[in-house]
Amino acid sequence: MTAGGDAPGMNACIRAVTRVARHHDIRVLGVEHGFTGLMAGDYTELIRSSVSNIIQRGGTILKSARTPEFQTPEGRKKAYDSMKAAGMDGLVVIGGDGTARGGAAMCEEFDIPIVGCPGTIDNDLFGTDETIGFDTAVNTALESIDKIRDTADAFERTFYIEVMGRTSGFIALDVGLSCGAEFIAIPENPTRLEDLLKIFKGLRATKRSNMIIVAEGDEAGGAMELAEKVKEQTGMDYRIAILGHVQRGGSPTARDRILASKLGAAAVEGLINGQSNIMTGEVNGKLTLTPFIEAAEKKKPVDEIMFELAKILAE
Ligand code: F6P
Repeated sequence: MTAGGDAPGMNACIRAVTRVARHHDIRVLGVEHGFTGLMAGDYTELIRSSVSNIIQRGGTILKSARTPEFQTPEGRKKAYDSMKAAGMDGLVVIGGDGTARGGAAMCEEFDIPIVGCPGTIDNDLFGTDETIGFDTAVNTALESIDKIRDTADAFERTFYIEVMGRTSGFIALDVGLSCGAEFIAIPENPTRLEDLLKIFKGLRATKRSNMIIVAEGDEAGGAMELAEKVKEQTGMDYRIAILGHVQRGGSPTARDRILASKLGAAAVEGLINGQSNIMTGEVNGKLTLTPFIEAAEKKKPVDEIMFELAKILAE
């Protein structure tokens, strides 16, 4: 099952789960439309050929959904009853923090093993260096930003570019360092307007174009809000680009395909070995298993050294 915001690499993960399970002669049902389909019994049988030719595709062949009803005990009971009626012995969920919380609640209330794979472009799950989809999203955003830099340079303009990351700045930080941003605004290190103004003052003499990367979850409220605050103080003209859902689509990078394949396989092996209520991940190249609740609720820190480096490189 895939749930929450889709992420490139989810299909590669579905493929790995299906093929590794079939390798062990385990029957596989694909749950469609996330927790909504789990409650409704929206299941279809997956065989090896059902997942042919999907490793390179973005989105999710199982579709996704956000399902408020699943957050209620009644919704979860409905899901459990549907799973039992279909003869399910275990579940692999692929998704972000909401999916991990849903998995944890099911495991606490019912006797059904569930193992997760971290799939979200936001990279905001604890217990894995990267989530499936993050690398692709960063590269997709970067491709657009490099193009914006060309026109920013031609007009000697300041651009504020908003990237995704509802409550986290991982995409903004990676993208900011790789595009040579003049400033990166992320929720983990609240943006002080004075800092940004100081940077503009210092840069004016040497820089012709400015790229300010803003995580959507930044406390300023987003790119438009930050740009307006600076304009109020300085009169500085600007242009905005909100990259939005383009970051969620596209063919996954090799790195995401590999991570998705490894973690999908690990989830099936985990279920076979009696694991439950955990999320697979990779830390320093080693497979990890983290309790769902920790994966969702422990704060994964951003790399402060990288944040400082980005500042020095922008001087
Ligand atoms: O979960 C990933 C994410 O893309 C966030 O970065 C973003 O805030 C959110 O999903 C958008 O969700 P939706 O597509 O439901 O508007």
